[in-house]
Amino acid sequence: MAKEKKEQSADDLAIVEARRRAEQAIERAKRERERSALGGLWSRRDFFGRLSWGGFAVVSGISLLAAVRSAFPRVLFKPPSTFKAGLPGDYAIGEVSEKFKTEFRVWLVRDAQGFYGIFAKCTHLGCTPLWLATENKFKCPCHGSGYYKDGVNFEGPAPRPMDRVRITLAEDGQILVDVGVQYKFGTWDKPGAFLRV
Ligand code: FES
Repeated sequence: MAKEKKEQSADDLAIVEARRRAEQAIERAKRERERSALGGLWSRRDFFGRLSWGGFAVVSGISLLAAVRSAFPRVLFKPPSTFKAGLPGDYAIGEVSEKFKTEFRVWLVRDAQGFYGIFAKCTHLGCTPLWLATENKFKCPCHGSGYYKDGVNFEGPAPRPMDRVRITLAEDGQILVDVGVQYKFGTWDKPGAFLRV
């Protein structure tokens, strides 16, 4: 009886041992599969493949940025400083022409002796004044400086008269204005500051 019991427990132990081995083998195989899957993820082929795609993406991104940047060139568009303003006879005596204010920031003024051009920039802080024909004066909308028709300041914080621009006659008889040459108050008697006609 005791012998039978002993044999049975030996059989049980063998079964347990076999089961343990089988479980270990399954576990080993599972780990092996996981390891090879992980190795596949970072295999040499995959690594170089990913590297090439990454490089391609970087180069494409840089090219795209360059293309977008080239659509906005760093060029400052400035109107030319010289323009022709038509014939003296096109203007009535006493007229303040605003024809060239938007493009060239200049008023062309005709008086009984000739023409002068005023650069439309307030001498306080640089705003563009308005011509008020009914009040016969220029008025700055920013801080209220006022200027007579000849550009001399008489009210508000403006410290001095507005500048004049060079004005001459071109060979074809038209008035030629050069905004690039300006005359401050005190130099208005210089040739170019006034066009006698
Ligand atoms: S900028 Fe013209 S009054 Fe100040």
